[in-house]
Amino acid sequence: MEEDPVNLREFQELAKRKLPKMSYDYISGGAEDQFTLRENVEAFQRIMLRPRILVDVSKIDTSSTLLGHKMSSPILVAPTGSQQLAHPDGELATARAAAACNTIQVLSFASDYTLEEVASSCDAVRFFQLYVFKGRDVAAAVVQRAERNGYKAIVLTADTPRLGRREADIKNKLIIPMNRNVEGLMSVDIHTTGGSGLEAFASKTLDPSLSWKDIEWLKSITRLPIIVKGVLTAEDAIKAVEVGVSGIIVSNHGARQLDYTPATITVLEEVVKAVSGSVPVLLDGGVRRGTDVFKALALGAKAVMIGRPVVYGLAAKGEDGVKRVITMLQKELELTMALAGCPTLKDITRNHVMVPHQKP
Ligand code: FNR
Repeated sequence: MEEDPVNLREFQELAKRKLPKMSYDYISGGAEDQFTLRENVEAFQRIMLRPRILVDVSKIDTSSTLLGHKMSSPILVAPTGSQQLAHPDGELATARAAAACNTIQVLSFASDYTLEEVASSCDAVRFFQLYVFKGRDVAAAVVQRAERNGYKAIVLTADTPRLGRREADIKNKLIIPMNRNVEGLMSVDIHTTGGSGLEAFASKTLDPSLSWKDIEWLKSITRLPIIVKGVLTAEDAIKAVEVGVSGIIVSNHGARQLDYTPATITVLEEVVKAVSGSVPVLLDGGVRRGTDVFKALALGAKAVMIGRPVVYGLAAKGEDGVKRVITMLQKELELTMALAGCPTLKDITRNHVMVPHQKP
């Protein structure tokens, strides 16, 4: 009988055994020395908890809202591309699992099922993640399709003017299918003479000239709220608020872009302080335990997103695997809140964590 993972790390091990090496390496890998990849996880492990005792925790409420949308917990599904590398049902399975768990899926621009196919797969609140390609007309067309298909926000990924150097993908000569969201809008030769097919595609398509002033342009083509993903400094957080975004995601792209950026949890507080409550701040990168979610909330995040764990769940057990990954993390958060004396999310404060070299 197939084993039943009891935590997110065991889901990763099961996924590793099931997946072809090329797919597993693409999903699990980071950029260059993978320093940031390790840090994203280890920095969480350096933060300790300061639980409070003798609080009535007979009822725990993990429910949350984001931009007015209700969620059963502050855990969202991060955008991850090419999910058919993990499972034939790809983003459709993830969509159904996220809906069943009452959370928000951020659909990747690089999804294998089109944004229309995902939108019609089930009823749910979902966001759309955008990469801006050269020429801008492709991005404009895709954003308008996302709006027409009921997506509730645009998540602009801003840390990818070029693709980070992912050496496993280069060695494996990673092959990715053509991006179906842009099929018919552009033709790109994705054949490569060796090396990563994703890198070859990205270098032909991504627009490295994208800058802060383009948020104006984005706002002119959509009424949807814009969330900027990839903020790692107070300076950029302030800029993001100035140009009128509706939310910020502290992210280093799961350590797949610029190596030697700090773990996201270590810069969260700086960003939170810089925006002083004007927009919600989310975090992704290295969230593997309910205690990690709790730590991020204590340091001021409104919610977190999980990337790889969802794809591992998908690879291990399809839609049910994704459901179990999300539910597992939600339950761990719920237990953490009980054991730390926090019956609601509002009860989680800065005093509930001890950050190394900093007072609580
Ligand atoms: C990603 N990520 C990503 N981000 C994005 O904005 N658009 C995308 O298409 C993708 N694709 C993608 C594929 C895979 C396989 C991974 C692992 C990641 C980054 C993702 O949204 C998120 O920032 C990280 O995955 C968060 O870190 P963890 O949870 O994977 O540690």
